[in-house]
Amino acid sequence: MNHILTTGRLVLRPATPQDHAGLLAHWTAQDVRRFLFDGAILSPEEITEVIEDSALSFATAGHGLWLIRENDSADLVGTAGLRPLEDLGLEIFYSLAPAAWGKGYATEAARAVVEHALGPLGLPEVLAEVDEGNAASVAVVERLGMTAFESVPGLLGPMTRYRRKR
Ligand SMILES: CC(C)(COP(=O)(O)OP(=O)(O)OC[C@H]1O[C@@H](n2cnc3c(N)ncnc32)[C@H](O)[C@@H]1OP(=O)(O)O)[C@@H](O)C(=O)NCCC(=O)NCCS
Repeated sequence: MNHILTTGRLVLRPATPQDHAGLLAHWTAQDVRRFLFDGAILSPEEITEVIEDSALSFATAGHGLWLIRENDSADLVGTAGLRPLEDLGLEIFYSLAPAAWGKGYATEAARAVVEHALGPLGLPEVLAEVDEGNAASVAVVERLGMTAFESVPGLLGPMTRYRRKR
């Protein structure tokens, strides 16, 4: 199984070691890391670890870190994936390069991941945890049809947890 997801405008491929430089540049950009990693700057070693963990996760569980590109382009426009949210289940995460904001790409990519999770992977639900100050991300989870179920404290302020059941 190649784990590639396609949408109308995008192709999502599992991260590979060849993506290291692009992913490092993308995830350390200030406007991208602010809410994704509470502002932390990931090191090259951490990026290597993320890519290795993702490959293992795809091999054993069918999900991990997907890199988003437009259908006809080699440029990285963003990331989407699934990761554990404490012991509650798997949460969706996503990021776009600022030049790709405002086109509906995050919602389109995240929808493909949620449908993959609830469909072929057979998960009972997908979770999300969003900083309440991250209005663009709140809008994405709402467009995905996710429902808020609790608020928890986070490093940057309160965060809302969402779920979408199969
Ligand atoms: C969160 C993030 C991915 C949202 O990006 P975004 O571009 O606002 O979200 P989408 O790609 O779904 O685009 C939606 C916008 O595109 C517009 N749009 C334009 N053309 C569109 C089209 N053809 N189809 C759908 N929407 C379209 C929508 O109207 C909407 O605009 P609005 O924000 O003015 O209402 C982005 O802000 C980001 O990368 N932030 C940093 C990382 C991060 O915070 N991740 C989330 C952690 S929980």
